[in-house]
Amino acid sequence: MTDHSNTPRTAPQTLPRASATFDDYTLSEIRRAAATGIYDIRGGGAKRRVPHFDDLLFLGASMSRYPLEGYREKCSTEVLLGTRFAKKPIQLKIPITIAGMSFGSLSANAKEALGRGASAMGTSTTTGDGGMTNEERGHSTQLVYQYLPSRYGMNPDDLKRADAIEVVVGQGAKPGGGGMLLGQKITERVAGMRTLPVGIDQRSACRHPDWTGPDDLEIKIEELREITDWEKPIYVKVGAARPYYDTALAVKSGADVVVVDGMQGGTAATQEIFIEHVGIPTLAAVRQAVKALQDLGMHRKVQLIVSGGIRNGADVAKALALGADAVAIGTAALVALGDNDPHYAAEYAALGTRPGAYDDWHEGRDPAGITTQDPELMKRLDPIAAGRRLANYLAVLTLECQTIARACGKSHVHNLEPEDLVALTIEAAAMANVPLAGTDWIPGRNGGF
Ligand SMILES: Cc1cc2nc3c(=O)[nH]c(=O)nc-3n(C[C@H](O)[C@H](O)[C@H](O)COP(=O)(O)O)c2cc1C
Repeated sequence: MTDHSNTPRTAPQTLPRASATFDDYTLSEIRRAAATGIYDIRGGGAKRRVPHFDDLLFLGASMSRYPLEGYREKCSTEVLLGTRFAKKPIQLKIPITIAGMSFGSLSANAKEALGRGASAMGTSTTTGDGGMTNEERGHSTQLVYQYLPSRYGMNPDDLKRADAIEVVVGQGAKPGGGGMLLGQKITERVAGMRTLPVGIDQRSACRHPDWTGPDDLEIKIEELREITDWEKPIYVKVGAARPYYDTALAVKSGADVVVVDGMQGGTAATQEIFIEHVGIPTLAAVRQAVKALQDLGMHRKVQLIVSGGIRNGADVAKALALGADAVAIGTAALVALGDNDPHYAAEYAALGTRPGAYDDWHEGRDPAGITTQDPELMKRLDPIAAGRRLANYLAVLTLECQTIARACGKSHVHNLEPEDLVALTIEAAAMANVPLAGTDWIPGRNGGF
């Protein structure tokens, strides 16, 4: 054997160390900002990890609880929304609705596909910051009409053609911020519906011009009820910031339904810095909204819809277990239609991105034909096939939610309760007000919310 003990060695090199604070993305963003002097705009919701439903687990039944048999015992999923004042509440077959996404941000084919998919599963869809298209109305058995600060597309006839009205105060992606639709997407049709000039960037108001607070909102809601003969449920949608107080004020203003949208919630376009740094996670918002309803004795009387990052049946079941009546989905519905599909990998690469990361929805160059108004790209989305994919996805979400509910011994998904949940992290335990797994400890139980 050769003796290497006296062979001279080069000094070991330390590895180059990347900064956790100045990581590659941060450095690239600083360089981009330095080169252009323009802030980054994108679509989608918060991309960084924040406490979420993944941080909760269901306990399931064992000796002390009795599960239901999956193939024989019924687990119901119907939801009634608007039971407080509306003469005609919305009846959903499943606890999952399609969130408001504007015509303008989305193509007419995408809006039609959302209507087709939702209707096939007995649930509702929602207009958005661009008015009601005939495609959407025609293919949605239940359509919620958004009444927005921008008032784009606001039309009393469409109020009457709707099945419910959603007064939008804010969105989880940008609480306190207004809408944004860049000139590339303002075609003649979009401009006509919004009474805007073609091809010019628009930034819509961050607050309603007709009311400044809950007292005025109460009057506005009464006006909307008068116009629609007290038939239609009135929702109030808020971005999650102070959900305890916002929910209480929405109830005081006369809402039938409160919609709380967390910071993971998608948007068509806004500043990246806004998406990632304003608002609170969906998980943190649900508990506060439910607590406000309980404190007012209005839980289950005024219904609660929760949105922001809902992806699978476990997310749905967790939101319901924390006290929501239904959830709404935006991003996941677009993915089901075909958004960010690997089939278009080469075209995403040409746009400098990849499937799963494409978020420049404001540019209107979506290869999948969803977040675009380009007539050629739009044609790529077949609304019938895309609607079928959405219906399949909604069916799976519902089956997954029912599977979990049965395992917890519940004959209706609304019977899921916080007692069925534990948390994996102290943060999630504190936010959701459920015990840390393996303990009976709920951080802050005797204080705060
Ligand atoms: C493309 C797109 C357009 C949207 N347009 C609107 C809108 O016009 N009005 C509104 O209240 N919310 C709008 N939103 C937000 C959704 O209604 C909803 O709050 C959000 O998408 C829910 O979160 P999720 O995307 O994680 O499911 C939009 C979202 C997306 C993705």
